[in-house]
Amino acid sequence: MTEHTVVADRYTWLFPRPAAIRIGSESHRDLFCGLLLQTFDPYKPAVIAWPELDDVTIERLTGLPFWDTAVSIEARAAFRMQAQANQTADDLIREALSLNAFEEDRHRHVLGHMLRFYAIPVDAEVTFAEKTDAEWGFLRTGFGECINSFVAFGLFDLARRSGFFPQPLVDTFEPVIQEEARHIMFFVNWVAYRRANLPLWRKPLFVAKCLAAVAEQFLARMTTGLQMRRLKARRSAPEKAGTALGAGKANFLGDSRAMMAQRPSKADFMRLCLAEQDRRMAGYDRRLLRPTMMPRIARLLLKILR
Ligand SMILES: [Fe+2]
Ligand SMILES: [Fe+2]
Repeated sequence: MTEHTVVADRYTWLFPRPAAIRIGSESHRDLFCGLLLQTFDPYKPAVIAWPELDDVTIERLTGLPFWDTAVSIEARAAFRMQAQANQTADDLIREALSLNAFEEDRHRHVLGHMLRFYAIPVDAEVTFAEKTDAEWGFLRTGFGECINSFVAFGLFDLARRSGFFPQPLVDTFEPVIQEEARHIMFFVNWVAYRRANLPLWRKPLFVAKCLAAVAEQFLARMTTGLQMRRLKARRSAPEKAGTALGAGKANFLGDSRAMMAQRPSKADFMRLCLAEQDRRMAGYDRRLLRPTMMPRIARLLLKILR
């Protein structure tokens, strides 16, 4: 990986060229690749100073049921982004995609170091590989990140405010969350650039691929949602929960409920996610496209709830 300009403030980045930029143009490519490459934060997971936590917080962390999944998601994202980079002819886009893959893999390492530091048990080292169309994999991961990040922005702020995660831990993970904001901005601009540069006859297939990727990602989350519901239902039958879930996961459900004791309504949570996504992207050049899929869905739901 080449060295990149390191900016002091990773929340602000302005493209030095003036004037309007046409989507799909060379300037547009330089704009969205510049965002990723020039806001690179060179932190190293191995030297993160993990804060000392009290026993209750460590138990709370240990009880979170998603560490294996989180590590796998990062490994998969890194693989798919690098696969897309490997088949990209344009040097600048390939470099930006490789950096994105590097950052996903770094997220995996951040999680790995944290889990080891706090002695949180997870399954053995995760690796990921698949042999499918690289663009299909990249689209699924990209749209998946658009969904996950929108919700994560709100949840992260909620966890910070409620004290569910102590401030030093929030500070440690802040760069990771902001990186996801950069990633999804890069992704939606990449999609628009790619679409604009395809010959007319190939555009419908690309749009269909995007729609299929979005549908697949929502379906996957609905399945996970149903599994979580079942998990909660089983926990409400303690004699079953003790054997089937294990104490850690049962604790998580109790703890998350404690955090959610001060939880906002569904509408307020969606407003929080909207505000947090806007805030995290506000400092980046206004000519970059912003992810609109989740904000549109949230605004529609807000109207329905009203
Ligand atoms: Fe990531
Ligand atoms: Fe990401």
